[in-house]
Amino acid sequence: MSYPYQIRSMEQYQSEYKKSVEDPEGFWAGIAGNFSWHRKWDKVLDWNFTDPRVKWFSGAQLNITENCLDRHLAERGDQPAIIWEPNDPEEHYRILTYKELHFKVCQFAQVLKNNGARKGDRICIYMPMVPELAIAVLACARIGAIHSVVFGGFSAQSIADRIQDAQCNIVITSDGGQRGNKGIPLKSVIDDALVQCPSVKKVIVLTRTRVPVSMIKGRDTWWEDEIRKVETQGNPVCPAEPMEAEDMLFILYTSGSTGKPKGVVHTCGGYMVYTNYTFVNVFQYQPGDVYFCTADIGWITGHSYIVYGPLSAGATTLLFEGIPTYPDAGRFWDIVDKFKVNILYTAPTAIRSLMGFGPDYVKSKDLSSLKVLGTVGEPINEEAWHWYHENIGKGRCPIVDTWWQTETGGILISNLAGITPHKPAHATLPLPGVQPLLVDEKGEPVPGSDAARDGVWHGGASGEPVAGNLCIKFPFPSIIRTTYGDHERCRQTYFATYPGLYFTGDGALRDAEGNYRITGRVDDVLNVSGHRIGTAEVENAINMHTGVVESAVVGYPHDIKGQGIYAYVIFNGDKSDPVHVRQAIVQTVARIIGAIAKPDKIQLVSGLPKTRSGKIMRRILRKIAEGETGSLGDTSTLLDPGVVDEIKAGRL
Ligand code: WT7
Repeated sequence: MSYPYQIRSMEQYQSEYKKSVEDPEGFWAGIAGNFSWHRKWDKVLDWNFTDPRVKWFSGAQLNITENCLDRHLAERGDQPAIIWEPNDPEEHYRILTYKELHFKVCQFAQVLKNNGARKGDRICIYMPMVPELAIAVLACARIGAIHSVVFGGFSAQSIADRIQDAQCNIVITSDGGQRGNKGIPLKSVIDDALVQCPSVKKVIVLTRTRVPVSMIKGRDTWWEDEIRKVETQGNPVCPAEPMEAEDMLFILYTSGSTGKPKGVVHTCGGYMVYTNYTFVNVFQYQPGDVYFCTADIGWITGHSYIVYGPLSAGATTLLFEGIPTYPDAGRFWDIVDKFKVNILYTAPTAIRSLMGFGPDYVKSKDLSSLKVLGTVGEPINEEAWHWYHENIGKGRCPIVDTWWQTETGGILISNLAGITPHKPAHATLPLPGVQPLLVDEKGEPVPGSDAARDGVWHGGASGEPVAGNLCIKFPFPSIIRTTYGDHERCRQTYFATYPGLYFTGDGALRDAEGNYRITGRVDDVLNVSGHRIGTAEVENAINMHTGVVESAVVGYPHDIKGQGIYAYVIFNGDKSDPVHVRQAIVQTVARIIGAIAKPDKIQLVSGLPKTRSGKIMRRILRKIAEGETGSLGDTSTLLDPGVVDEIKAGRL
């Protein structure tokens, strides 16, 4: 497979960018022409950011799995599509060629049909990082069912909320999972969730760890038994359901500044074109390269850059079940060495954690196959950037710092590996088709921040970098279409703060070369180890504990996680054993949300700083959590300024 749309020089980047701004429809139609469609579009783009309404490739029909599988069979059917490395290094790895993956996806798509799945149904997937997870995802897409993958670290309650919101009728899971030394009782968690989910009629259970599980008659069935049934049917080739370009492909839940996670909706056509385009360009993938993204398919990174982007490009994608520190902190480097990985895409939090184990885990490994390194999920600090560049890339691999979001489906701001320059701690330049703009508090454009002013490329601000809130002016093919079941929420959250703009929730700087540097969230959303967690969501969970009166949650700088979770809690239960109280609160959060949202620090307080109108002054709490010992700014509007001194004195 060749990629005629792969940008190969800085000049070409500039000319493609210019074209994408001057004639977005012509630009994207040109890219889209490289895919297989059942029917071509009538109109490339139809949009407004008021409703909002965004439609790409209206009238076109396609099935994304034909682009990820069928179209590769003739040319690269025997090439590895997926390389799978298990958690336990003693267990044998697996390789699935494009032919094998195609066969298994068709088989499992037939299983779904046999179990009553139809086009448009919502199917929840809660699985470990095994090839069958990718197979399940693709099988849904094959028959036009909408997948909703839930990360294995979420609790039964979180799963139930997501299943109810989307009214899923089928769940795909496994008996258990294994991450490092820890077993995860996936099926048992699903059983707890389903007590609240009458919409679910079938549960398909993959055998992975062989922990004993309860299989409920009429509802639960084994993956392997279902496959055998399809084999006795003579393995009918499951045809790919033709989908409208704007039919939903998947829902993925993500946290925001309010209590309840939102179901971000992506659709078939635009998402396919954009994830493929960005995969090919950002990583500069060359046929035959082995590409390793360390994310979990439960997050958007896994959807776009383990499954759909790489497979639609006919790439070899490596899927890893385990964790970076098991059996020791050299595991990533062992995998790079073992499979001669060419492109490695990971998170700053993993880099910082591995950096802390010292150079010995890297030294003995052969990393000479590496050509390109990438990071995603949070700002990377310069120290971690340089460690990655020197110790892993040996000073010869470009690092792509890719900024994007669940809502954007694909990478929006990043250098192109080896083509446009990298700059430590900077995501750098917008990809073609992406029109960023920084605005001030009033929504006024910040001079020098607009890369595509009047449809023309504009370099950076002169002199010092300019700062503002990061917005996008124009739709790109994989922008969020709606929040499932609540379009008004989508409008409110992303399109209402600055009318006419998509607001990202991030703050950013732009320098004289036009490079963007993302500084972090400006709303009440935390980024813990590259995972998004809403402060309101954690507060709601803490408040579920019987002894808790009220709580306030803020982030604070954490050496490895980027941000840690700091909770201030008013507790009126028995406080004689504060350690016990804290553990009980942590346990409550783990039950309600999942282990990923456990607070790192819990300070028991007698009151919270509030304004006379009863609003918690988070700015002050944030400063205290950050360790600010000096002035906390204006506290004169506080109802009871004394409470601040108490909180300051009790800081953990
Ligand atoms: C938030 C989105 C994108 C997939 C993983 C996270 C932060 C993401 C970067 C980066 C600085 C980054 C932003 C963004 N973020 N990439 N390269 N540099 N910050 O997806 O859970 O939807 O979170 O992650 O704050 O808004 P997500």
